Amino acid sequence: MFFQNKKYKPWKKKDFVLSILQVVIHAIILLGLFAVETVLDKGGNGFIAFITDEKTLYNVVYAVIVVFSICTITYLYYFYEYRDFLTRAKNIAVLFISIELSFLLCIIMGHFSGIFTRPCTLCALLVLLLINHRSAVFVNLMFNTLLVSMDLLCQVDFEIARVLGSFITGVVTGHLAVYLVNNVGSRIKVFGMGFIIAIAASLFAFVFSLEPGITILDILFVIAQAFTSGLSSIVVLMALLPIFEYIFNMLTNYRLSEITDHKSKLISRLIEEAPGTFQHSLVVSTLAETCATAIGENPILARACAYYHDMGKLKQPDHFTENQHGSNPHDDLAPELSTQIIRDHATNGYDIIKKHHLPLILADVAREHHGTLPIQYFYNKALKYTEGDLDIKDFSYAGPKPSTKVSAIIMLADGCEAAVRAQNDRSRDKVAKVVNAIVEDRLKLEQFSDCDITMREIDIIRNSLIDSLSGVYHERVQYDKMKDKRFNMFDNSKKS
Ligand SMILES: [Fe+2]
Ligand SMILES: [Fe+2]
Repeated sequence: MFFQNKKYKPWKKKDFVLSILQVVIHAIILLGLFAVETVLDKGGNGFIAFITDEKTLYNVVYAVIVVFSICTITYLYYFYEYRDFLTRAKNIAVLFISIELSFLLCIIMGHFSGIFTRPCTLCALLVLLLINHRSAVFVNLMFNTLLVSMDLLCQVDFEIARVLGSFITGVVTGHLAVYLVNNVGSRIKVFGMGFIIAIAASLFAFVFSLEPGITILDILFVIAQAFTSGLSSIVVLMALLPIFEYIFNMLTNYRLSEITDHKSKLISRLIEEAPGTFQHSLVVSTLAETCATAIGENPILARACAYYHDMGKLKQPDHFTENQHGSNPHDDLAPELSTQIIRDHATNGYDIIKKHHLPLILADVAREHHGTLPIQYFYNKALKYTEGDLDIKDFSYAGPKPSTKVSAIIMLADGCEAAVRAQNDRSRDKVAKVVNAIVEDRLKLEQFSDCDITMREIDIIRNSLIDSLSGVYHERVQYDKMKDKRFNMFDNSKKS
């Protein structure tokens, strides 16, 4: 799953050349699929005659123009909408392999069992679950344009009404599938949606099959074909998704649900080795899910990121308040060393998540969830032992700052949860005061300068956190307030 960040990274000449080259290669593969269709339809000799005959040679030229135009439009769409998407070869491969596989299946099923049996919604669904829903709507239109172009250019003896009928059915049911399946959390529910898609496809097939002299039996046959097409799209989708997830380490809602299972490797380690951190992550996951829903981000992704945000604490769990029972190892450590241990949990989390081949966004959120915030408790402690000025940077997290909205949500939910837990008075007014202070401090310290979250969204998150946290209670030790007058934060950085 790809998430947009409109603050694009600067592009180098190499990015242009590599991304264009890949799209050209995929355009050639698609033209090869046009040839497969012609060979299936007319045989090997028929194909040679088709590309050499003056009457049909124009179709070959048109096919080249159509395929390259569609690939160019697709490239431009991503360049202007999700530019960073094009900088990773994996993304371009996932996008075009989804198109090519769907196209190949449509060719095979169209040839052997009829034009209305083609799984026209498959491509849109793959792009929906592997990239995002806006891309899926766009790619659905491009895919069906490719398909209708192939019908018109390679199979000149096709009935035009049926070809157009298939095009309209493909576009409409593809769009419908995107909206029905978007944010459906379980694979079994997606099958349920498959029936609705199949019914819609059948209705369109019925309308477009009506012609003078057609028998009831013919109509029923076409309806059955279209119904099969709707269902087969879902069946093939479910078979292909795990392959994409495995080969490309892709993130789908289903994979996210699996990796947040309490029996998954890292989560069960967290439960066993750092139970306090696990409980904290559970509360943050509930908060993050609500915040993500409120601002239109993916709640399942936010939940997964919350589960993994403190995974770095697995390295020295007893050095974090929530896992301590009486003794505190920091009592015997210099504040500089304590700072180092606390600071490292962000980068350790990044390394642990990457080592377990989990999706990169989880690792990024683990590294970014404290941004460049100061670790105030140990800064305050160090101040007690020194007469000179201390540099707050030496007692701050190394960053980077949150680069996505989900990362920003985790930073706020994490900070607010820890701060509210540390309060004795958790009335709604007090919770609101604490949350407001945390949000204001993060803003003052410019923690959201690297992501495209808006002030309106931060306000929505703030209100959502106040509502959710008003009912969350856990005892926490209260630490000294910050002594540096530049910050009025609640001291939670050691604990979260
Ligand atoms: Fe945390
Ligand atoms: Fe943390």
